[in-house]
Amino acid sequence: MNALILLGGLGSRLRPLTLSRPKPLLPILNRPLISYQIDLLKKFGVKKVVLALGHKASHFRRHLGNGKSWGVHFIYSFEKEPLGTGGAIRHALPHLKGSAIVLNGDVLSDFNLGRMAALHRRKNADATLALVEVVDPSAFGLVETTKTGRIQRFLEKPSGDSFPIRTVNAGCYLFEPRVVERIPAGKNVSIEREIFPALLSEGFRVESFLHRGYWSDIGTLKTYWRTHQEMHEQKQWPSGVRRRGGLLFFPGAHVDGSVRVFGTAVVGAGTRIDRSVTLEGKNTIGENVRISEGSHIQDTVILDGARIGPRTRVERSIVGVEASVGADCRVGPDQVLADGAQLPAFSQIVSSLSE
Ligand code: GTP
Repeated sequence: MNALILLGGLGSRLRPLTLSRPKPLLPILNRPLISYQIDLLKKFGVKKVVLALGHKASHFRRHLGNGKSWGVHFIYSFEKEPLGTGGAIRHALPHLKGSAIVLNGDVLSDFNLGRMAALHRRKNADATLALVEVVDPSAFGLVETTKTGRIQRFLEKPSGDSFPIRTVNAGCYLFEPRVVERIPAGKNVSIEREIFPALLSEGFRVESFLHRGYWSDIGTLKTYWRTHQEMHEQKQWPSGVRRRGGLLFFPGAHVDGSVRVFGTAVVGAGTRIDRSVTLEGKNTIGENVRISEGSHIQDTVILDGARIGPRTRVERSIVGVEASVGADCRVGPDQVLADGAQLPAFSQIVSSLSE
């Protein structure tokens, strides 16, 4: 089957982290988000993946190449102007022959694509949309189905506290070519807001596949941070890590024997963690990071090349690529340091000034 990943969004809600790279290339446990989607597609037997992009396209070309080192073949479908999620799929039509799986580039999930494709065929659907049930649907459009799972209605972010249903679009679709051909060419259109409702009113058979496994929509800084915590909880360790108690380190990481780990810490290659550092909770530390003597890091994501000075405390935060935090600082909870940010010694960036 064909597969397409939507990668051309601006990722504006994830600024400042997306100023220097597109959202699907942000690391999740030290691996780019898109690598999880490629793995998922490979597991399903996909050999050719269309990458639908425009914004920051050169970053993808540099990181992904032609796909050989990833074990798949990439085809780049480039948009001069962003065409929206629907327009991007239509633009890629010449590369899509037969049924196509479409993934949002910012969703991390263990979708069972085999079961979804079987349901799609069994129901003879024109399109099948993966749904997921969420605890708080306030930030999503809701999707209503019949008892047998056929999609009936889309409800855009209903107001108020009570939600009639809690199933939302999970960002994974299966389309027959007649559906892709139905999308207007060369126009900016949204698959979720414009095309799906139009398909329903035109009598297309749109079915749903309820996904009950892991799912995270990495749209905001909060969900980016939370996804790391969840990956630790689920012990979804990246391949190639070695384990010593709660410490999960890549070859080439240097962690001093006196470092105390209360919880779990993933430590990237080339990173150096000095004497008497405490790693508490669920920490993810990128490549070539330096954490100096006596620091205390808790529930934090530290991206590649960052520097944490001695005796500094960082809690429940995100530290950007090559950011530098001086000695004796306090950062967090709930802070984000942009790539390259510089904090002089004794700085305090805490969530409130109260005692
Ligand atoms: P925000 O700017 O923070 O809303 O993020 P976003 O631009 O990524 O938007 P959104 O989360 O709604 O996008 C869902 C998926 O569609 C992401 O994987 C985006 O990369 C992708 N996407 C959004 N707009 C476009 C587009 O115009 N073209 C392409 N090719 N992909 C898009």
